[in-house]
Amino acid sequence: MKQRQYLKDYRPSDWQIPHIQMHFDVQDAHVLVHTRMELVAVGDGTQTLELDGRQMALVEIRIDGEALSPEAYQCDDASLTIKAPGARFVLESTVKLDPFNNTSLEGLYAAGGILCTQCESHGFSRITYALDRPDVMSVFNVTIEADKGRYPILLANGERNAQQELPDGRHRVSWSDPHPKPCYLFAVVAGDMACKTRPYITSEGREVDIAFYCDHGIEERMDHAIDSLVRSMQWDEQRYGLAYDLNTYSVVVAGAFNMGAMENKGLNIFNPKYVLASPETATDADFAAVEAVIGHEYFHNWTGNRVTCRDWFQLSLKEGLTVFRDQQFSADCGAGPAQRIEQVKFLRARQFAEDAGPLAHPVRPESYVEMNNFYTVTVYEKGAELVRLLHALEGESGFRRGMDLYFERHDGQAVTIEDFLAAHGDANQLDISGLQRWYGQAGTPQVKITESWDNGHYTLDCEQSIPSNPSADAVLIPIRVSLLDSRGQAMIDGQVLRFDQPQQGFSFDLPERPVPVLFEALSAPVTWDYAYSQDQLKHIVRHAQDPFSRWEAAQRLYLIMIDAAYAGTTLEDQHLDVFCEVMVGEGDGAVIAALLSPPSADELTTRYTELDPLRLSQAVDQTEAALARVLGDALATQTQNLMEHVATYAFEPAAAARRSLRARLLRLWCLRGDQQAWQQAEQLYDNSDNLTDRLAALQALNQTDAAQRDILLERFYQTYKNDKLVLDRWFALQAARAGQAGLDSVRTLLAHADFDQGNPNRVRALIGTFGMLNLSALHAQGGQGVALLAEQILVYDKLNPQLAARLITPFAGLNGLAEERAAAVRKALQEIVAQASSPDVLEQAQRILGH
Ligand code: PHE
Ligand code: ZN
Repeated sequence: MKQRQYLKDYRPSDWQIPHIQMHFDVQDAHVLVHTRMELVAVGDGTQTLELDGRQMALVEIRIDGEALSPEAYQCDDASLTIKAPGARFVLESTVKLDPFNNTSLEGLYAAGGILCTQCESHGFSRITYALDRPDVMSVFNVTIEADKGRYPILLANGERNAQQELPDGRHRVSWSDPHPKPCYLFAVVAGDMACKTRPYITSEGREVDIAFYCDHGIEERMDHAIDSLVRSMQWDEQRYGLAYDLNTYSVVVAGAFNMGAMENKGLNIFNPKYVLASPETATDADFAAVEAVIGHEYFHNWTGNRVTCRDWFQLSLKEGLTVFRDQQFSADCGAGPAQRIEQVKFLRARQFAEDAGPLAHPVRPESYVEMNNFYTVTVYEKGAELVRLLHALEGESGFRRGMDLYFERHDGQAVTIEDFLAAHGDANQLDISGLQRWYGQAGTPQVKITESWDNGHYTLDCEQSIPSNPSADAVLIPIRVSLLDSRGQAMIDGQVLRFDQPQQGFSFDLPERPVPVLFEALSAPVTWDYAYSQDQLKHIVRHAQDPFSRWEAAQRLYLIMIDAAYAGTTLEDQHLDVFCEVMVGEGDGAVIAALLSPPSADELTTRYTELDPLRLSQAVDQTEAALARVLGDALATQTQNLMEHVATYAFEPAAAARRSLRARLLRLWCLRGDQQAWQQAEQLYDNSDNLTDRLAALQALNQTDAAQRDILLERFYQTYKNDKLVLDRWFALQAARAGQAGLDSVRTLLAHADFDQGNPNRVRALIGTFGMLNLSALHAQGGQGVALLAEQILVYDKLNPQLAARLITPFAGLNGLAEERAAAVRKALQEIVAQASSPDVLEQAQRILGH
């Protein structure tokens, strides 16, 4: 087992490596990597040097030009130790790599005919012997040599210097990156790809060549991504005064990729899902995601690359901050309030669940075995919420002052979260200690709010605690409130309360007793209780200014019904009658669609102790059915109204909002088992020119018994079977079928000719959808669904450990499950622990089991 790493053990490196020169010699079945590094001792130097290195064959090693005999160094499966000759020397190594059989998608690997690298977090030490840690920063020069027919395009970080033809149809290209960088940002790519370019001139007058690469024949699907990059570059110049700092910016689509994308300096590598988009092959949500991820990787150029992390415990320094920046960017591109609603849904479904269970960890973790397991919703999404919180405290101009000081102090450095907070605190004379505490404590704070009303004097009494972490200290929780009068007017409008004690009261003098609208836009990542009456919730749904708070109140109304159904009682449909007004109301269609969406079962797994997942799924379904009933005939009329004037597709906020409302209404209508609704769905499918509407039709039918469902699924398959990304949706739709039917589909599809174990997107579409989003199928048939997931995790434990370790998350709900369900999950986890071999999977399974 790998050794556990602790934050408290951090020590600066004994060695720095100012320069690294690498040469890649790409052969038919292997790659030779020659590396030349200048090592410089820090302080008086130590006489041993331990380099990281795994999964490669050492061919030769030299110090200051002299080959070392095998007695002069020690090599094990993770490192190479040398007695250093002095405080400054040159180390050269040659290693042989086998990228063609590397299914882990880390280090150098082949996918879809191209060779590419993935180094974050510790992939560089699968490419060469190195100090694989982010506080060692080097200037890199790279040459790549390969067959020109098979690999006409050879890329690395930085700028291209020279290109040279070689004998035997080979060629060589050299690149240099003037910015010192940690090795996790290193990248090379070799392959035969189509290229689309775009010139860009930065605010500083620098001429940049933007170049995007993907498979031949689908180049035009990169246009939206290229436009998004140009907008990102302009946005960072305008909002943060940050311009791009190289003359080349390349983005490569990798055939297989474990994550979303990677911000390698000047050479981003992307999951195809976040680059390729055309109306026929991507939904509105996909278009938005491309824009967000393109922005995210670009924004890393300053928050991550120019200023990087001292060690991996600081990961949220770059990720939380960069997620926050990409969220700001999307909002400025017109994403609207439905975007914040989506963010919060995701935060609650995934991050709150993580924080309440055995995989909980602080935004800055204290220890890890396998760092890849800490690219989590806590580090990313909760981390972004904390930056949002800081932004709310400082205001826009204060936040900018804090960022300016951060770059002024730390450009070119590898720093910590404290450094970031200190820059903000110093720039604004702000006490950041209440914010700092958030980073070191796991668990979602819970805020209990009660009120008193005394003759014009209104008090909100707040109490905070972390139920899963009772010894936690009070943190700073900004509560944004509005207080509505009986006509729905705000007597207090969006005031921010600074709540930083275990208990604290906030008073207001008011002409009448208000309805409080609390935590507008979710002003802090907490759960909160206030004993609303149903009438108060309806009042908020009708009158609140903040669309998010209307949605929040709607969720609470649905929850009253879901709780009742879960407990075995039923409420009158009339409980939901306010939604009749909502449906026909004016305003943003995307917000209306969100208001008409009860929480899904996967958002509620931590709500009940001794959870019975099947009963929960049923309770949610019953609530949705009640909503569809209470909307009455108007539902059909409204849906049909929205069917008319279907314009040619454009990814544009108003049109997307309309599509989203239409999709939502159609789905509710179809749930009623109405033949006419099913026919409408088929018509929408046939008449549409875009994937958004086609999927809307299929999703509307997916949980029904309509014959149209099978017919359209087959039509979809025939149309899209050669289009990998779209075919993923076909797999996901079937994996999302509720209950036994879903489990059966998953079994069948695992044997389908188009199921590809080497394509993580396909694996996630089928197994990820089943595990993460389909509680009733996962827990179907006694423990059989659970056993199937465990078996699949073991398959990827061998092939692609990072992917396997992510598929485990659905098992982390163990603590909340009713005993017989928990027993099935525990048994599956024990099986995994007995059979798994990767540290990734072992660490996760053991953490869940509490070992
Ligand atoms: N650093 C990448 C991002 O968030 C994510 C990533 C992590 C990709 C590890 C690959 C491996 O932008
Ligand atoms: Zn990132």
